[in-house]
Amino acid sequence: MMNACLKGPYRTSVVAGQVYRWCSCGLSDKQPFCDEAHRGARALPVLHRASQTMVVAMCGCKHTKTPPYCDGAHIYFDAVNKP
Ligand code: FES
Repeated sequence: MMNACLKGPYRTSVVAGQVYRWCSCGLSDKQPFCDEAHRGARALPVLHRASQTMVVAMCGCKHTKTPPYCDGAHIYFDAVNKP
């Protein structure tokens, strides 16, 4: 399986009241949302109900401590991966 994670957030439109399933494993081809590719992995999607209709920054690196939102963790991982 291919890991489809980004090193930064996905700018995503959400609709108030709608429930979204954020991919926490990085294997989904429909990032940032779950497509059931996690089966067999030790991860489950994170359910999130949008409180407002708006554009949000959903985590793409899968290291956020505030899922499904980006908390800037990708900056650290990008820095440590540079030679
Ligand atoms: S495909 Fe990643 S959590 Fe479901």
